[in-house]
Order: sequence, then structure tokens, then C-alpha cells
Amino acid sequence: MSTSTRDSAHPAERLAGPRRYLMCAPEHFTVSYEINPWMDAAAPVDASRALEQWQELRATFERLGHQVHVVPAAPGLPDMVYAANGALVTPQGSVGVRFAHPERAGEAEAYARWLEEHGLGPVHRPVHVNEGEGDLLVVGEHLLAGHGFRTDLAAHREVEEVLGRPVTSLRLVDPRFYHLDTALTVLDDDPEHPDVAYFPGAFDEESQRVLAGLFPHALRTDAATAQVLGMNAVSDGKHVVLSPRAQRYAEQLAQRGYVPVPVDLSELLRGGGGAKCCTLVLRG
Ligand code: ARG
Repeated sequence: MSTSTRDSAHPAERLAGPRRYLMCAPEHFTVSYEINPWMDAAAPVDASRALEQWQELRATFERLGHQVHVVPAAPGLPDMVYAANGALVTPQGSVGVRFAHPERAGEAEAYARWLEEHGLGPVHRPVHVNEGEGDLLVVGEHLLAGHGFRTDLAAHREVEEVLGRPVTSLRLVDPRFYHLDTALTVLDDDPEHPDVAYFPGAFDEESQRVLAGLFPHALRTDAATAQVLGMNAVSDGKHVVLSPRAQRYAEQLAQRGYVPVPVDLSELLRGGGGAKCCTLVLRG
């Protein structure tokens, strides 16, 4: 294989860039309501295990050279650990969130205020429902946006106006993959060689066509990978932090030149989230 050219599927070398992440410790994590098919309020959560697993995720990011900021966890907001839903932070501006479910409503201001107090404001307070990086993912010049379960289609237009960059809408059709980040991993967000992996079955046919057009070399994953929430992974352009249950995905990533880094978050999966859900990327 030639090493003189670099396309997304066969790069000369994967490069990791240092990232800034925002996380929230699962100090008040529990499953007391059910707003996605993964949640079972009758099954007890092991709170200390959840905290240990989250600490391992944080330590893994730090070992990889990334900077982790932590927003204080608020009592009564058990899903606040899923920091990806706290905002979308880009060099063009920060968009706050408006949750689809009242149980999570209180998280929106907690995240917006933290960002403003840490130099990442002003934070736009949205009119339409959008659940932050759960449904809004930056891939190079593309801003991909999910809808169908949580984020409103109208919010896609709102985000487009606030940030002044086009948004590509993708329709999610399987309730297990209710946020875009449960169906698609951004592997490389560099505009020169953007790369994604996704589970086609999570999207309607039109959205599958759109994805195939935008990313003809994308890695398509199987149902077994998606079913362990394997797509909910965090990549720095080289290392991909993912579920240890997503073995086939790890092999596929390694073949593509990425370094899979398994971190077990089984206790946080009870809320319907994996590594990406627990991680908000702070850009700009
Ligand atoms: N229990 C949370 C909810 O249903 C999980 C959120 C997961 N976050 C994500 N970015 N996919 O809202």
C-alpha cells in the first residue's frame, strides 16, 4: 500500500491531538426514572462501582495527555454524569441545551453557568430541544445532527444560525440508539481527513445515503457492536476509548490504524451511556 497518499481509511499515521474535556463525577448517579430502553429503575445501581469506573475513564484521558475539567455534580440530577448532553462548545460559539425530558431540565443551567464561568461563554440558551453533543457532532467542516428521539429538527436550524455553519440532519430510527453518539463515532475530526464509524441500522434510509455520500470510506459497524453501545466511543484522532465488550469494533479500528483503549463503564451503561456520553469536548 502506498504511504504517500493519506485518505481516511488508510492513513500514513494516526495523530493524536491534545483535547480538553469536561466531565461530571457520578456522585448522584442512580437509575430512578426510565427515559431510554437501557434504563431499568427496578435494577439497583452500584454507586461506588460507577464512581470507580468513571475515575478510570478520567485517568485514561489524562494518561493519554488530555486535560480534564470537572463540573460539580448536583444532587437530584442523576444523569448529570452524561456530560456530552451539557452543551456543544466550538470555536464559533457555545450552544447550551434544552432537554426533552423534565427529569434532566436542571442540568442545562448547571452546564451553561460552568462554561460561562470558565471562559467558554456566552452560552446560547436554546429555544428548541437539543441535547448537546449527544446529538450534535463536529467532524471537520461538518456538523452532524441527530433527530427522531431527543433533539428537535427545528434545533438543527437554530444551531446553524447561532454558529453560522451548516448542519447536516440525520434521522435516528431505533430507540436503543436515541442519541447520535450512540450510533456514530467521530474517529478523526481533522477537516483534512475526517473519519467516522457508524451503525447504518440506526438511521433511516435517506440518512444512510447522506452519510455514505459525505464519508464514502467510513467504517460501518455491525449490530453486535451497536448493541453493546460500542459506537459511544471517544477518539483523539489516534486512541479510541471504547467499551471492552466491543471487541469486533476494536479489531476494525486497529486495522484502520487506530489504537483501541478499552475502559469498562458497565455501571454507567445502566443509564444508557458509555464513554462518549460521559465526555463533553471543549473546543476553542
Ligand atoms: N439517561 C440519559 C438519558 O437518557 C443517558 C444520556 C446518554 N448521553 C448520551 N450522550 N448519549 O438522557
